[in-house]
Amino acid sequence: MTKERILSGMRSSGALHLGNLLGALQNWVQLQKDYEAFYFIADWHALTTGYADTAQIRTWVREIAIDYLSAGLDPDESVLFVQSQVPEHAELHLLLSMLTPLAWLERVPTFKEQQQEIKDRELNTYGFLGYPLLQTADIIMYKANWVPVGADQVSHVELSREIVRRFNHTYDRAVFPEPQPKLTEVPKLPGLDGRKMSKSYDNVIYLSDSPDTLSKKVKVMMTDPARKRRTDPGDPELCPVFDFHRIYSTEADRQEVAHGCRTAGIGCIDCKGKVIDRMVEDLQPLHEKRAHYTAHPDEAMDVMRDGSQRARQVAQETMAEVRDAMHI
Ligand code: TRP
Ligand code: SF4
Repeated sequence: MTKERILSGMRSSGALHLGNLLGALQNWVQLQKDYEAFYFIADWHALTTGYADTAQIRTWVREIAIDYLSAGLDPDESVLFVQSQVPEHAELHLLLSMLTPLAWLERVPTFKEQQQEIKDRELNTYGFLGYPLLQTADIIMYKANWVPVGADQVSHVELSREIVRRFNHTYDRAVFPEPQPKLTEVPKLPGLDGRKMSKSYDNVIYLSDSPDTLSKKVKVMMTDPARKRRTDPGDPELCPVFDFHRIYSTEADRQEVAHGCRTAGIGCIDCKGKVIDRMVEDLQPLHEKRAHYTAHPDEAMDVMRDGSQRARQVAQETMAEVRDAMHI
């Protein structure tokens, strides 16, 4: 029985954090067993907003490669690659651009949202408008059936479906299947200040943070503001630390902590200490692998280079079909 294909990727615009691990990577690790999986690092996508300051891009590619491998993505199970090492993506993007109406790109919600959000950079660029079309090329190059992504990316997968229909119809050949987004329930993981964990809020725990750094960060994490003094009772429902307990602690510990919080029977320092221990324990295998690859970063990049070659073979087959269908 042939497995269905999935493909997903992350932009190399910074180091990955716990939100990326719980929201995506852990899910990808599960999926690689049941699907033929392609996972990649979208370094060209990082240029769509970061074109002016590229000094760090290679560093991020390397760090994310290390994060992927440390999180458990396995080159024996999945094809792990770097977008810019498979230049066929650029060719497909160009060819698709010929048949993509501007209006389709202009109405993708992330286009206007991000332009409004990111004020410090000129984003009225051709590349930025084409972001979801490049993403379409990434996806359909491998004829992926499923794209595991967060809700914010669904409109991009939707565009891919429209492009596929238009391509297959225009050239009268069913070259591409229509990809579908694959949404999974993910636990709510707030950042250190209680807002969504996000690099831009500077409230994250990086996968590269040592147990010591992690511990220091959680120790100064926001709690229920009602607990000004040790004797003030609190409400775990209003505390982001308790969201960490929900993810990492046993049911028994969670109940004990919740009760202690409500009755001021436990102090925040002890409550945090308990969850820190669980987090460090949970992350230990990741931290160990990370230490190995950090000492041998070339190994991680070799894995990505091998994977990129495998991806390229598939990409070249697809491009042969595309050129043939288009009479190029
Ligand atoms: N746009 C995605 C993000 O910001 C990254 C990405 C690029 C991607 N190409 C993709 C995701 C293809 C899934 C499939 O997270
Ligand atoms: Fe939050 Fe724990 Fe303090 Fe309660 S005891 S406010 S759950 S850190």
